[in-house]
Amino acid sequence: MMQIIRVKDYEEMSCRGAALIAQQITDRKQSVLGLATGSTPIGTYRKLSEFCMEGKLDFSEVTTINLDEYLGLSPEHPQSYRYFMNENLFSHINIRQENTHVPCGDADDVQAACRAYDEMIELLGGIDLQLLGLGHNGHIGFNEPADVFVKETHVIDLSERTIRANSRLFRSEEEVPGKAVTVGLGAIMGARRILLLVSGEDKAPALHAALHGPITPRLPGSILQLHPDVTVIADEAALQEEP
Ligand code: F6R
Repeated sequence: MMQIIRVKDYEEMSCRGAALIAQQITDRKQSVLGLATGSTPIGTYRKLSEFCMEGKLDFSEVTTINLDEYLGLSPEHPQSYRYFMNENLFSHINIRQENTHVPCGDADDVQAACRAYDEMIELLGGIDLQLLGLGHNGHIGFNEPADVFVKETHVIDLSERTIRANSRLFRSEEEVPGKAVTVGLGAIMGARRILLLVSGEDKAPALHAALHGPITPRLPGSILQLHPDVTVIADEAALQEEP
């Protein structure tokens, strides 16, 4: 089942997204949240930080599991996703640092770290609410267009399009790592509930294909059509191809 909520703009998307996540935490204090990085969730994280600072939301028993990390970047690297999460959310809320998980980009044994990440998700009982953004090529997490859907956490070669899109956060395209570690589609599709946030006309073709196109690993977001509980909050620009 997919529910599509059409909102005016990025700001409204962020408010609605934060409200939904806050409700999840209020309903279950020990929620396991799957989190994303990128431009899309920044406004949502800002709202959640505000709720927490105002004493309206309590993260003390929440666990978070991030989707991905650049391969080769240490947690201290300013462009790492661990750093991003600390800056944009974790340092503003009362979450315990040890309850926040981001794949390790600089593990000695990357394959073992990937397996350990999946085992941890299983041990935690899976993800209650998975927050997702959508790539221009339809990727979710860093599950890039491919011949098959990959279930497990794995190392991926980032597509040229993704590298170009993400280079805005680096000094140059050459500095963007070519590889990343991403949670696979098993953990994402295993989440009890999924929240997909999409903003901007540049995402409209990918969103349309994800919602209505064939279910194919060539457009990984299309797999969400098979999930029983997806809420899409998207702005008018992102939904311009919808009737
Ligand atoms: C990031 C992630 C990616 C982004 C996607 C959209 O953790 O999983 O799938 O959600 O690349 O990125 P933005 O929001 O920057 O357009």
